[in-house]
Amino acid sequence: MILLGSTNANIGFPTGMEILRSGGSALDAVEATIRPVEDNPADRTVGFNGYPNILGDLELDASLMDGRTLESGAVGAMKGVIPAISVARKVMETLPHVLLVGDGADRFAKEMGFESAAELLTPEVIAARETILRQDMSAEEFEALQDTDNLRQWVRLATDPERTYGTVNVIAQDKDGNIACGVSTSGWAWKYPGRLGDSPIIGAGNYADNRYGAAACTGMGEMAIRASTARSIVLYMKMGLTLADACAQAMQDLNELGGSFIGRMNLVALDKDGTPAGYSSMKGKTFIYQTDAMADYVEQERTLVEIEERWG
Ligand code: GLY
Repeated sequence: MILLGSTNANIGFPTGMEILRSGGSALDAVEATIRPVEDNPADRTVGFNGYPNILGDLELDASLMDGRTLESGAVGAMKGVIPAISVARKVMETLPHVLLVGDGADRFAKEMGFESAAELLTPEVIAARETILRQDMSAEEFEALQDTDNLRQWVRLATDPERTYGTVNVIAQDKDGNIACGVSTSGWAWKYPGRLGDSPIIGAGNYADNRYGAAACTGMGEMAIRASTARSIVLYMKMGLTLADACAQAMQDLNELGGSFIGRMNLVALDKDGTPAGYSSMKGKTFIYQTDAMADYVEQERTLVEIEERWG
């Protein structure tokens, strides 16, 4: 058995490993590993206290996929409810749908008994939004954001790679060999309202299939949507590529995307035999994993595959 993920998943690893060690399912382990990350106020890219959209509203995306059946659940642009990963699981388990977004996702979460959080942003993050946005706009422009008919002019602030974007990825394989994969994010800081990244899009930011393996992404979600990155990695393994070749090919696919807004990407992946991998377009990025034979998780540098960044 094995648990792997992006390095910011470490806060949930003890819980996830406990579930796997006691014979629990990969699906339970993935959900339980992600929940503490969503609760962590210090992680500004996932769940509670994530950086909000350009208007100051937190919009959460999450998805969960069961590699036994390829059943999946996801929520996108959901406001006011955490843990988003658990709402995504309920979508998978109780609806004939895969993805709910916006007001529908919020409504469904309430129907399923999730409490609306009174406030999902701390005063520090609310103040940080104003400080960061005011570097690029006047006080008048900042005050007028809610009503402007040209909000799109400010979206370039969300595409600056030096501003925060991030996500949590977790993949588990349980003692029965079943694989599950989960992803949760608050998306790009200062994104246009209603923007979905790759995290809630099955095949883009998340894919799991017991027969071949699983993959998940962090980074510029639009790229993973365009290249179907998570599904591509699993499909490349189905076509006979090794885990390493499948990941390298998926990174190459991203590098070959045309147009502008080509930025950074990170992958974690697992093959059906329980071999973990991490790839990144940035030097020095790490991922973590732990097997039942290990007392603690190890942090390993991701394999570097450069992607030429191009900005519009
Ligand atoms: N990869 C997360 C996002 O683009 O929202």
